[in-house]
Formats: sequence, C-alpha cells, structure tokens
Amino acid sequence: MWIVVVSLILVVFFALCSSLFALMATSVPVVRTPEKMLAEISKLAAVQKSRIIVDAGCGDARTLLALCATQAACGRGYELNGPLKVFAMFRVLLAGRRKSIKIYFRDFFRCELEDVDLVYCFLMPAVMRRVGRKCLEEMRPGTRLVSYLWEVPDWEPTETIKLGGREDPLFIYVLEPEIKKDTNLPN
Ligand SMILES: C[S@@+](CC[C@H](N)C(=O)[O-])C[C@H]1O[C@@H](n2cnc3c(N)ncnc32)[C@H](O)[C@@H]1O
Repeated sequence: MWIVVVSLILVVFFALCSSLFALMATSVPVVRTPEKMLAEISKLAAVQKSRIIVDAGCGDARTLLALCATQAACGRGYELNGPLKVFAMFRVLLAGRRKSIKIYFRDFFRCELEDVDLVYCFLMPAVMRRVGRKCLEEMRPGTRLVSYLWEVPDWEPTETIKLGGREDPLFIYVLEPEIKKDTNLPN
C-alpha cells in the first residue's frame, strides 16, 4: 500500500516540477482558448483548407483538435509542460486522431515550420514579436499565423475577427515579406 502512496506522491511532485519548469521557461501560463470560441476558430482553418496546422503551445490539445476538425488536416502540437503533453496525447488518442495529430514535448521556437500552412497561438504579448519573426522566416508566402488575443507588434493584421460576446480579437496574418513594418526592432 505504501508503495502506491509514495508512487502517487512522486508522480504529483514531478508533475508540479515539470509545470513550474514550463512556466519559468516560457513565461506563458496555462490558459485555454475559451470553448465557445473554438467553433469559429476551427471554421476558419477549414475554410482556408489548411493542411498542416501547428499549435505553438498546445496545452491539452483541445484547440488543436478543433483546428484539425476536418479529417484531411494534420496537426502538430508543441508543449513544454510535461503533464499537459501527456494529457494532450491521451485526448488525441481518444479522439481517434493519433495518426494525423502529433504532440511533441518541445519548444515551439525549436521546431521547423517549412511545410506548415497555419500556426495558431495563444501565448503572451512578450513573445509575439519572436513568434512573428520565426513564422515569417520559415513559412511559405501565403501561409497564416493566427493569434488569439495578442498582436505581433508593428505588424498590420490581414484580418481581425471579433469572437463571441466579449469580442475577443483573433488576429490573422497572411505571411508575406511586406507584412513586417520595422525589421530592426529588438525581441
Ligand atoms: C495560454 S496556453 C494555450 C493552450 C492552447 N493553445 C489553447 O489555446 O487552449 C499556452 C500554452 O503554451 C505552452 N507554451 C508556451 N510557450 C511555449 C513554447 N515556446 N514551446 C512550447 N509550449 C509553449 C504553455 O506551457 C501553455 O500550456
């Protein structure tokens, strides 16, 4: 009996340490895109026929699953919070999308985006300039960066959609070289 109790305590301890590490490494708290916004967000991905979709910090993968609602879409979720990554994998497994949606315990800023059609993110203002720069450098012209709540500083969104009763902004950037207004700004 005590072995079970000690094992449980260890699991909880490592889960807490991993979550704390993720928070310290990313400075981005775990907050989910509100459920009621998902239908509209996923419609957007479907309309644009995005085939490879990335969630930059996928949390529990609920949003990524909504974005990949059409079976033709393939998803990649990057998550630095270990317990959440495991949870996300279970969610994908239960949804029957194990083959087309992969979850990685990896820093989004270290992943490759050359073949990606749409990057979705719900992060924090402090990292948005870096996210924009990475997407612009690696993704093909005409592909999209979609950010819930936070803008890429000094970029003009191609479209801003207001979601739900609170009218939360969803910023859509079609990536073209001329999107960047000031290239010399710091991170
Ligand atoms: C605000 S939550 C959003 C979760 C999910 N995308 C959603 O919309 O429901 C942000 C998540 O991104 C993760 N994260 C932040 N920066 C990251 C990075 N550079 N690489 C991987 N994951 C990151 C955090 O651990 C957190 O779980």
